[in-house]
Amino acid sequence: MAKVIKYEFVEELLRKMTLSEKIGQMYQTNYEGSAQTGPAIDTSKTMDLIKEGKLGSILSLYDNDTIKRLQLAAVNTKNKIPLLFCNDIIHGCRTMLPINLAMSTSWNPKLVEESSKMVAYEASHSGVQVTFSPMVNLSRDPRWGRVMESNGEDVYLSKELTKSYIKGYQQGNLKGENSIGACIKHFAAYGAAIGGRDYDGVDMSEGELFNNYLDPYKEAIKCDVAMMMSSFNSYNGIPAVANKYLLDDVLRKKLGFNKVVITDYASVNELRKHKVAKDEKESAYLAIKAKNDIEMASTNYLDSLEELVKSGEVSESEIDEACRRVLNLKYELGLFENPLKNIYSDFPKYWLKDESRAIAKKMADESIVLLENDGVLPLKKEKVSFIGPFVKEKKVVGAWGGKCDYNDTVTIYEALNNKNKKYDYALGSNIFDTNEELISEAVNVAKKSSVVILTVGEEQWMSGESHSRARLDLPSSQERLIDEITNLGKKVILIIFAGRPLVLTKYKKMYLEGKISAILYAWYLGTESGNTIVDTLYGVNNPSAKLTMSFPYDVGQIPVYYNHLPSGRPIEDKNNTDYCLRYIDMPLEPLYPFGYGMSYSEVKYGKIELDKDKLFDNSKITVSISITNTSSVKTKEVVEMYIEAMYGVVSRPVRELKGFNKVLLKPGETKKVSFTINKDTLSYYKGSKKVNCYGKYRVYLVSDSSKENFVEIDYSKNTK
Ligand code: GLC
Repeated sequence: MAKVIKYEFVEELLRKMTLSEKIGQMYQTNYEGSAQTGPAIDTSKTMDLIKEGKLGSILSLYDNDTIKRLQLAAVNTKNKIPLLFCNDIIHGCRTMLPINLAMSTSWNPKLVEESSKMVAYEASHSGVQVTFSPMVNLSRDPRWGRVMESNGEDVYLSKELTKSYIKGYQQGNLKGENSIGACIKHFAAYGAAIGGRDYDGVDMSEGELFNNYLDPYKEAIKCDVAMMMSSFNSYNGIPAVANKYLLDDVLRKKLGFNKVVITDYASVNELRKHKVAKDEKESAYLAIKAKNDIEMASTNYLDSLEELVKSGEVSESEIDEACRRVLNLKYELGLFENPLKNIYSDFPKYWLKDESRAIAKKMADESIVLLENDGVLPLKKEKVSFIGPFVKEKKVVGAWGGKCDYNDTVTIYEALNNKNKKYDYALGSNIFDTNEELISEAVNVAKKSSVVILTVGEEQWMSGESHSRARLDLPSSQERLIDEITNLGKKVILIIFAGRPLVLTKYKKMYLEGKISAILYAWYLGTESGNTIVDTLYGVNNPSAKLTMSFPYDVGQIPVYYNHLPSGRPIEDKNNTDYCLRYIDMPLEPLYPFGYGMSYSEVKYGKIELDKDKLFDNSKITVSISITNTSSVKTKEVVEMYIEAMYGVVSRPVRELKGFNKVLLKPGETKKVSFTINKDTLSYYKGSKKVNCYGKYRVYLVSDSSKENFVEIDYSKNTK
């Protein structure tokens, strides 16, 4: 277990504090004007608690003048302990980036880091000292509303992007003028909630937890992440916030995390709803014994910890340990020297700078996914019409919009005008309703053009926290519009806005029938959305994004993700599938696989080369491939490396992503892309124990997880 650091300044302060003052540091609440990110709570006592030196931190407050007033009140008390101000700045403060799931499809850790640095620049001048980000919950179930803020279904990719977020936010200097602390969340396995239902339970084996859920947190700890948040869900029958196995045995002892753990919003209160605590006192007892240092938004600690210490059920040293971690965080952030760090009354002047918008545009350009294209894209000189509810829609930011103002969003409509494009326009349908007049107006406009860009999608609040869906279709009014327009015999480009994978089976069928000519997935691309979409349509941006969640053929396929375990009865002969793993009414494979995405270029993959095909515990193998851009436009290509264990001490997934490399290729250019394989690349957990799986492996270097292009290597014990 990593020891908690002892700063003399903090130790001296601790010695002076009363028990109730220490417990006050372990409480975080709202204040009037705070954004509501959970059930409303009573904030009437907040100022009194501050004046008594019995409040540690405040969340979701936006107005910097209020923040400054509260901070001055806090440091004007006996112990002069500054408050800590936290906020959910997830994918942008004022200049909005694409939603995180969209950003993950860039497979570009450097760009995600650069984007997070831009976010930190704005947030560090807007009263944010710690952000409740990155959210790294593995997301395999598109019904779950919070997939929109995740890094998708693969733990290796999520681990790499976790580094980017934390380095971008913290910049290796928590006291830095342009940096903010990062709070990685939610520990743990929140995305595996049964049925994709937010806040539902999670049941999983230790092997599943260690193989697919912990690496991003390990990486975050290596990056010195400032804070961690425990999650709402139960894990194997015990709510995470009360789960000593998760928060103490695994997080503190095994992973060595020795900084602040904060609960999620009022999750300690919810222990009674989970039926593991009979009252407030027992809730506080369970949460402190699981080593949650700060209780967010509910007052079980404030109301009961003193009594628990007096009765001896909780020791004062346990309170000291929690309070020390909170004070250490404030000390490391430099708040004792400068309580007004990151608090600026003139914060708007730091927002929406050209260079910030340029980074948001670059991020959006690499987050839009081209799913289908019969060659209609990029647009040439055709007469085009833009139809549908998202041509003029400003709300394409997605949930967790920080301090955004939707008026900042550049819509498709505005981008077309700014770029002096000629086009016709019709609404055709609102997001949730349409009428004959709208439909016929859209049909008439479409008839007069040769290419129709049809914009459809989920309303942005159909995803996000507490917005899980049991169906993954478009609102029905839009289906009507799609049917009318695709029956006109025009070339139709479908642009889909969503915070999750939707079921696109019907539109893929229309594509195969020639009724749709291209499909672009535009997620919610944030402030620069319209500019990215128009630049992509006209070829100024060559799409390079690749899916990081599998797109199901049907909701009935869920869970469907690429790195599933093999079965004893795989289909080996497509003509004889009796007694095999299958559905009799639909394919097993997803409609669009993990790692899939098109561009306007053709990239040819050469033969995979190995410098040797035998691996030992103390050796390494270099595996390479040459890829060539055979098109006339420059492109960025993500080469994905997967391994497949052919046998071992435990059954392993049919594919495991173990590397990726995004390379820029000029027209006609060939580049060699190499990856290193060593024993760590091939290691796996059997339960909570890491094992070396000796034996035969396939190594794939491919453009997506469904492609078959591999070589074989053999991994054996050291001969000497
Ligand atoms: C919410 C979310 C969490 C967020 C917190 C504070 O309920 O679960 O991700 O950071 O409350 O807003």
